[in-house]
Amino acid sequence: MNDNTAIISEIKRLLGDEPKLAYVRSFGCQLNTSDGEKIKGVLKNAGYGFTEDESEADLIILNTCAVRENAEDRVFGIVGSMKKLKELKPELIIGIAGCMTAQSHVAEKIKRSYPQVDFVLGTSAINGLPRLLLDALNGAGFEADITEYDDFSGTVEQVRGSSFKASVPIMFGCNNFCTYCIVPYVRGRERSRLPEDIVSEVEGLVREGYKEIMLLGQNVNSYGNDLGGEMTFPQLLRRLNDIEGDFWIRFMSSHPKDASKELIDAIFDCEKVAKHLHLPVQSGSDDVLRRMNRRYTAEKYLGIVNDIRSRDPEFSLTTDLIVGFPDETDEDFEATLDIMRTVKYDNIYSFIYSKRSGTRAAEMPDAVSEEEKGKRMRRLLEVQREISTEFYKRFIGRRMRVLVDDKAKKREGFLTGKSSEFIIVEFEGDESLIGRFVDVEITGAMNWAVTGRVI
Ligand code: SAM
Ligand code: SF4
Ligand code: F3S
Repeated sequence: MNDNTAIISEIKRLLGDEPKLAYVRSFGCQLNTSDGEKIKGVLKNAGYGFTEDESEADLIILNTCAVRENAEDRVFGIVGSMKKLKELKPELIIGIAGCMTAQSHVAEKIKRSYPQVDFVLGTSAINGLPRLLLDALNGAGFEADITEYDDFSGTVEQVRGSSFKASVPIMFGCNNFCTYCIVPYVRGRERSRLPEDIVSEVEGLVREGYKEIMLLGQNVNSYGNDLGGEMTFPQLLRRLNDIEGDFWIRFMSSHPKDASKELIDAIFDCEKVAKHLHLPVQSGSDDVLRRMNRRYTAEKYLGIVNDIRSRDPEFSLTTDLIVGFPDETDEDFEATLDIMRTVKYDNIYSFIYSKRSGTRAAEMPDAVSEEEKGKRMRRLLEVQREISTEFYKRFIGRRMRVLVDDKAKKREGFLTGKSSEFIIVEFEGDESLIGRFVDVEITGAMNWAVTGRVI
């Protein structure tokens, strides 16, 4: 690791006694949000406070996502609108971090068309942030650091967004090269953190009172493949389950090609591991799955589902789906609806395919119109609504343990939380329960949540 101590002292000196505020906004997945918490950790060390209001910020960092075109368009729109802020406050510093910066055409575009941006920080370059910041404070002009520092290992200081739910990345990057996906290009190859670093981070979080630990990786099932067989993911789950305390362990994402019997055994054996599995299927058509390079068939996927549901027929599953992959036929789409009806997901995260330049799917011919893709998406959501409306009724009469998240948005006096099964639960209660576990008896079911009363 770089020693940034001298640079940080110099930044502190330049910032002076007046409090300076940073606005850090992360887009995209939870791994990126976790990077945002590390960026905040560096800024806090350098003397910055934080604001949620960009107009009062002295420093703005947008931590970007490149997974779909609309995610990128949004960021360009926001950076564009920041030109005004900079005109009003010329000493404002603007930095762009995250996955968009790893695409050379994007880095070029930022440099060429957005002079309000002071620096670009690559996805493995958090260690380079103090230097970029110091140079910007000294008015050095546009700079970019996309060096791959070894800053993924160890435990880095973070400013966490919640006092009871924490994300803990266990690995970075991805080796899978699904043909539609930009992530392996912008995040590099898989690197697993050392088990002892993960264990000590989780122990520390539990000591601080965190109630939910979310283990993160693009495919947690390949955790440890690069550590010479020292520890597999199911072994890591068992090791973390042994940590004393009252907390839950969740994890994301789990690639079906590597979901093993050992993983399922660990989920059922470990009382702290939440009883929910996010198992992204993407499509129900074998032809589409082959062209996506997912390396499983619908039959193999259903085999995993059967293994789980033979042990608990009502086990909660969620998934990711892509609609309108190049040349997806009506039959392919129907196969996706079929697998949804067979599995009965509690929730789905569905996306219209977005062409990402540099990926293999971007070169594939595509005869399906945007209008047809939109129609399929609406149909898919309708089918899922029917499934969850029916399937959520299984919870009525059950007692569920819920980690209370927040006040309910639209119902005065009500709280919202998530059960171990990752189901949203709404119930009447006092705000003092936020961040705590409560037992709720379920009395009603909607298609997006269940309702009940605290017992
Ligand atoms: N590594 C995770 C996995 O394989 O399950 C997925 C991570 S990705 C950030 C989250 C989801 O975005 C994917 O599961 C996929 O459904 C969706 N996605 C990725 N690339 C996409 C694209 N080009 N167009 C539309 N959706 C995409
Ligand atoms: Fe993208 Fe596939 Fe890697 Fe997930 S497993 S990040 S979808 S390439
Ligand atoms: Fe995540 Fe988006 Fe990057 S989904 S890994 S922030 S491309």
